[in-house]
Amino acid sequence: MQTTRPRSPVPFLGVGVGLRPIHYEAILAAPAPAELGVDWFEAISENYMVPGGRPKRILDEIRARFPIALHGVSLDLGSTDPLDPGHLAQLADLIARHEPAWVSDHLCWTSVAGESLHDLMPLPLTASVLDHVVERVARVQDRLGRRIAVENVSSYVAFAEDEMPEWELLSALAVRADCGLLLDLNNIHVSAHNHGFDAHKYVDAIPCDRVFQLHLAGPSQAGRLLVDTHDHPVPEAVWALYERFIRRAGPVSTLIEWDASIPPFERLAEEAARARSILARVAGETPGERA
Ligand SMILES: [Fe+2]
Repeated sequence: MQTTRPRSPVPFLGVGVGLRPIHYEAILAAPAPAELGVDWFEAISENYMVPGGRPKRILDEIRARFPIALHGVSLDLGSTDPLDPGHLAQLADLIARHEPAWVSDHLCWTSVAGESLHDLMPLPLTASVLDHVVERVARVQDRLGRRIAVENVSSYVAFAEDEMPEWELLSALAVRADCGLLLDLNNIHVSAHNHGFDAHKYVDAIPCDRVFQLHLAGPSQAGRLLVDTHDHPVPEAVWALYERFIRRAGPVSTLIEWDASIPPFERLAEEAARARSILARVAGETPGERA
């Protein structure tokens, strides 16, 4: 029964889209927030950790109209480099200013010996990596004074050292670090295709009450591989994973990610509308009608 579902501890925000500068004008020009057809925005944290006031002022204006979440790309939760205290201080300041519903980053490493690769590199799926990331997520949460959500990344190669499936490591991380999860259904679809595992099995293994948010996006085909390009509409296989997950979990805040060949805002709103209709049909929840 719906009432017995374990629910996420964070508020249900409805369906949002990734906040991109190309859409600032359209968002701020809307006479009423409801006319945009989205309920919330996810802002890339690092885009607003900059000197100068304009990006932060724009985020202030959008925050005055909509809930937001902050999504980071450089906490470097899996690296063996030390956590960056300066970065954490800037993130804490951003949180204090914009009061996001939650903060997220990725299950990955991005730097080695102080050199950043500027990419989200997958981690070996081992017990020692799990211990390492649990400890770093706990330290980040202690510093920020709040739980964060950790997102699964897509991958194209696997490590010979792997000891467990990714869903097992991600679920154990959530429990042991007492953190949330940002479940990216597109990344699951991409990795399942590239590695030949069952995406449904992955989605079914995730503890629903740990999931703060879902990501939906569209990948590209490159030969035999799927590549996580975020430059296409959400494919049918990802919509199917979405429906499957919220049938079990109930309503979970959902975000459309589109980062390259970004279309006009109205096209993003069409994708958001499809997510809303699935939420209404499958989870009995109509975003925008909540109290
Ligand atoms: Fe994502």
